[in-house]
Amino acid sequence: MRNKIVAGNWKMNNTLEEGVSLASEIVNIVADELKDDVKMILCPPFIHLNSVSKIIGDADKIALGAQNCNDNLKGAFTGEISVDMLKSVGVGYVILGHSERREYFGESNAFLAKKVKTVLEAGLTPIFCCGETLEIREKDEHFSFVTKQLTESLFHLSAADFQKIVIAYEPIWAIGTGVTASKEQAQEMHKNLREHIAGKYGSDVADSISILYGGSCNPKNAKDLFAQKDIDGGLIGGAALKSRDFVDIGKSY
Ligand code: 13P
Repeated sequence: MRNKIVAGNWKMNNTLEEGVSLASEIVNIVADELKDDVKMILCPPFIHLNSVSKIIGDADKIALGAQNCNDNLKGAFTGEISVDMLKSVGVGYVILGHSERREYFGESNAFLAKKVKTVLEAGLTPIFCCGETLEIREKDEHFSFVTKQLTESLFHLSAADFQKIVIAYEPIWAIGTGVTASKEQAQEMHKNLREHIAGKYGSDVADSISILYGGSCNPKNAKDLFAQKDIDGGLIGGAALKSRDFVDIGKSY
């Protein structure tokens, strides 16, 4: 059984006060409404993590994630955050390879391979993002582009380590645009990714990996997306900033 996961990537939004109030609302609604077999993950900005961690407390249906980390363990890296710092405030997951980090901060597949290793060695779970631009899709190169992202950043891992990863397919043309991938488009890519993983690690490993969809996912379209055989949940941006919408997405299984 694969894990059902809905993660909220707050990106660079909310003051600490706003973040604390959003997290409190989500924790309260989740406690009352969410099924036991779904996990929600809050990924606020770094400076919110300690406070949000305290709000989550020992709630078992919600976990804490960071949006990034440095690939080194410590030292002279001004402005950066290490995996040990994240662990010290109760973080369990780290988003890696988001398209915004790839685009604005030049993160390459090879560089992400290093971050994945650092995160896994710290005992944290990477949420590894992949996805193509519209231009790549229109050239019909989306499958090869996305599978290459996996190959170059993840396929150095042992099967045991690979199984610890969560993957998020986020087509760049669907992020923040209001244009969601159709359930057929998303399912087709997720199936393709799973087959690619099976080719390297075997079908048992491929079948055990949670693959999330991200890109304009909302309470209206989540049910159709999550009903697809190879879609195990979502990585949510805009809709994760509204407590009601975010939890409703978590209830869309
Ligand atoms: P939106 O849900 O706002 O499209 O963002 C998706 C995303 O980038 C999550 O990481």
